[in-house]
Amino acid sequence: MADWVVTLGRSHPVVAAGGARLDIVDLADAGLPLLDEPAPALFGTYRNAHTRRWSHTIASFDGFVVVTPEYNHSIPAALKNAVDYLYAEWAHKPVGFVGYGLTGAVRAVEHLRLVMTEVKAVPLGSQVTLSVFDDLTHADPTDPTSPATMTARGHQAAALAGVLDDVLGMYRALAALRAPRDGASPDLSSCEDPTSQAQEPDHSESGVGDRS
Ligand SMILES: Cc1cc2nc3c(=O)[nH]c(=O)nc-3n(C[C@H](O)[C@H](O)[C@H](O)COP(=O)(O)O)c2cc1C
Repeated sequence: MADWVVTLGRSHPVVAAGGARLDIVDLADAGLPLLDEPAPALFGTYRNAHTRRWSHTIASFDGFVVVTPEYNHSIPAALKNAVDYLYAEWAHKPVGFVGYGLTGAVRAVEHLRLVMTEVKAVPLGSQVTLSVFDDLTHADPTDPTSPATMTARGHQAAALAGVLDDVLGMYRALAALRAPRDGASPDLSSCEDPTSQAQEPDHSESGVGDRS
């Protein structure tokens, strides 16, 4: 699913013009145990190397498209855990959603919006609702756990374009709220016409994203 997002996302006009970069962050690679920091992330004092690595990863993006399944009407525990590890790293960054499940993970995404609000991220209304029945083709059609390829119905690409439009537009609008990483004043030039970003690689740090 994430490969589908990135592959289509790379043809988005802002991305194609060099105004943003898309990368996949796979929670499996982060290797986060159940939250084991002694202090809440609000304090930003991280004891563990895995937390500092995760902090660096998330801090390096200006926005996110979260791809999530639905587990028992909410998000998987691993995703909630990964959010809980950090605080300031999420702040003032737009979040769009691609949900997948038996019914498009709409309830999971609704929960995730609330969670992301608490860490001061900016969850957006746009989302893609993928069906594991209708947007995948399984090797064994009678077994939804068999290997599958992405065969998303036509309207799903348009829905994803809407998510990317919102995230890529909003991250520029929110740039002034995000703490400058170098201690300098926020650079409002990143609020200019997205297509002008191609000439301004300095402002493409992270994003759905642009990544430092
Ligand atoms: C523990 C568990 C709970 C699930 N609960 C729901 C659910 O509430 N609603 C739904 O639409 N699908 C539900 N599903 C189906 C998953 O969304 C679907 O199998 C999805 O492909 C799982 O993604 P994953 O293979 O990346 O974990 C559940 C699956 C699991 C394993």
